[in-house]
Amino acid sequence: MDEALGTPLAGLSLLEAAPDAMIVTDHRGQIVLINAQAERLFGYARTELLGQKVENLVPPRLREQHLHHRDGYQHAPRVRPMGAGLDLYGVRKDGTEFSVEISLSPITIRGERYVSSAIRDITARKRIEKALHDKNIELRNANLAKDRFLAGISHELRTPLNAIIGFTGTLLMKLPGPLTDEQERQLLIVDSSARHLLSLINDILDVAKIESGKVNITREQVVLQDVVHEVSNSLRALAEEKHLRIDVAVPAEPVIANTDRRALQQILLNLANNAIKYTEQGSVAIDMQKACDGHTAIAVRDTGLGIRDEDRVRLFQAFEQLDASSTRRFQGVGLGLHLSQQLATLIGASLDCESTYGRGSTFTLTIPADAA
Ligand SMILES: Nc1ncnc2c1ncn2[C@@H]1O[C@H](COP(=O)(O)OP(=O)(O)OP(=O)(O)O)[C@@H](O)[C@H]1O
Ligand SMILES: [Mg+2]
Repeated sequence: MDEALGTPLAGLSLLEAAPDAMIVTDHRGQIVLINAQAERLFGYARTELLGQKVENLVPPRLREQHLHHRDGYQHAPRVRPMGAGLDLYGVRKDGTEFSVEISLSPITIRGERYVSSAIRDITARKRIEKALHDKNIELRNANLAKDRFLAGISHELRTPLNAIIGFTGTLLMKLPGPLTDEQERQLLIVDSSARHLLSLINDILDVAKIESGKVNITREQVVLQDVVHEVSNSLRALAEEKHLRIDVAVPAEPVIANTDRRALQQILLNLANNAIKYTEQGSVAIDMQKACDGHTAIAVRDTGLGIRDEDRVRLFQAFEQLDASSTRRFQGVGLGLHLSQQLATLIGASLDCESTYGRGSTFTLTIPADAA
């Protein structure tokens, strides 16, 4: 290769074929060869550059640094990018600066040392990188602001709500005096609506906490069967109202996991609550199985509406409801599954859904062997 560059002309035709601007300098830093791409990039004619110092192509403020680096390179010449980790700039004849990326390779022609530099204008790439960087910071700040706002407002909303629930309770207990049947009926509606609102606010607060990384997972030895029974018992009345059976099948031997009890309970409550909510007839089943490899799967199965394949991706997103029409039949805000999946990730478990539209769905929580 060195010999191919033996004559300036042969070298030139090789350089012309390169996609990048190419400049060859001698050991004093004088330009001995340049290609047309370099002429275009720097805005000079070839004749203006040949024999000139290569520093003329570096912005004046960086020239000293460049000389220093060039000396360093001459002591240890090898093929490498120039100024790794540094932002490099070139300067055009008209004085404008631009970002460049340069790779250097030493060449020897008839015993003389030269350096060939391939120079690429990376202004566009830099601009995109910067825009991306700015966007990321902007997003992070917006996210933090959102989390702070949600946490703040949820707290403010909970305080008066607790007063509403508390005083409705004392009225219903008839502590201040007797109630007519109609007053009692209306107060029960106030009570259940306020409780619903409270659980909604708690969900939003949980999401905000999880997303800002403020949720603490406390692991303890948990008998999984206990949690399954607590969940099914607390939802039995709800299922009976809709004439749905809840079938629970768990292994006879206690299955113990080292996990966060509250998170586990909340996930299963959300899944079972959905199963009841989105099922008009049939049953809801909670099946727990321990696999040979040690993981435990808890499946919540229903014979309800089912989920279309194309809707599956939206299920776990915050505030997503598959029936988002204004006439939707179901209460809720679309946070249950999002929260459940986040909690599952936090405890090292995974949450999957299988469903046949019109037939029913199965949501399975898989708790890995090391936690089980
Ligand atoms: N078992 C299920 N069968 C059919 N559709 C379901 C089932 N579970 C969830 N979905 C669909 O997924 C959507 C999101 O569920 P998710 O639990 O996140 O929210 P939600 O139940 O609407 O409200 P929230 O749980 O916050 O009160 C639901 O609106 C519903 O359309
Ligand atoms: Mg739900």
